Amino acid sequence: MRFDVITLFPELVQAVTGSGIVGRAANADLIDLHCWNPRDYTSDVHRTVDDRPYGGGPGMVMKPDSLITTIKDIRALNASENIATKVIYLSPQGKTLNQVAVKKMSAEQGLVLLCGRYEGVDERVLEMEVDEEWSLGDYVLSGGELGAMVLIDAITRLLPDVLGHKDSAEQDSFSDGLLDYPHYTRPEVFAGKEIPAVLKSGNHQRIAKWRRQQALGRTWQRRPELLENKILDAEDKQLLRDFLENIREIEDKHE
Ligand SMILES: C[S@@+](CC[C@H](N)C(=O)[O-])C[C@H]1O[C@@H](n2cnc3c(N)ncnc32)[C@H](O)[C@@H]1O
Repeated sequence: MRFDVITLFPELVQAVTGSGIVGRAANADLIDLHCWNPRDYTSDVHRTVDDRPYGGGPGMVMKPDSLITTIKDIRALNASENIATKVIYLSPQGKTLNQVAVKKMSAEQGLVLLCGRYEGVDERVLEMEVDEEWSLGDYVLSGGELGAMVLIDAITRLLPDVLGHKDSAEQDSFSDGLLDYPHYTRPEVFAGKEIPAVLKSGNHQRIAKWRRQQALGRTWQRRPELLENKILDAEDKQLLRDFLENIREIEDKHE
C-alpha cells in the first residue's frame, strides 16, 4: 500500500518507518511511504506556505496554491501507476478515528495524508481536494503529522503478510468489537501474584472460553457502549452472566 504524506516536517513522518512492525513492512516493500513538502511547490524566494487569516485573528493559515499543486502532482503520479488515491485531511474537526475506519482504509491502494500546521489549511483546499477528514480525538495537536503516523501504523498492521501468526491482529482489541483479554507471561508467580490456573491447564478449549469470557467482561466493565450494538450469541451471554456473577461474589466477600 502506498502512503503519500504532505507535510512541512517530512523527517518527523519518515521516522515511523524507522523501527518495529512498520519498519519491517517498509523494508519488505509491503508499504511505500513518500513525503511531499509543500515548500517545494512554492515560487517565491522565501518558500512561503502560510499567510495571515482574512478577517484578522491570531495565527497563520496554510496557503491553498502550493497544497493544491502538491495534491494534483500526487494524483497524477498515482494515476500513471494505476493507484487509486483517496485524500485524507488530519483534523480535530474530522470524524474520530476507530478500528472500523482503519480497517476500511487498509483496503485502499493509496492514501494521501494531508498534515495541517498553524491554524490549519485554507478551507478551499478541503472543498476542492479532500475526500475525508479524520481526527485522533477531541484535543488539538500542533500538526497533523502524529495523526498521519498513527494512521500509517494502524493500517500497516492490518495489511496481508505484515504480522506473523504470533502477533496476529485478529485477536486485538476492537477487531471483533470487543477489548482484548488479559495476557500473562513468565514467571508464573510475580510479586506474590499467580497467573490464572486455567492458562496452565493445557486445555485449549477451556483457555479459549476463559479468554472470550475475559474479553466480554472487560468490555462490559471498561467500554460498555461497545456491547450496545453487538449481537451476542447464547454462549457469549452465558459467559458474560457468569463473569458478572463472579464479580458480584468477589464484591460481596469484600463487604
Ligand atoms: C493547531 S491545529 C489547528 C486547529 C484548528 N484551528 C481547529 O481548532 O480546528 C494544526 C493542525 O494540526 C492537526 N490536528 C490538530 N488536532 C488534531 C486532531 N485531534 N486530530 C488530527 N489532526 C489534528 C490538523 O492537521 C491541523 O490543521
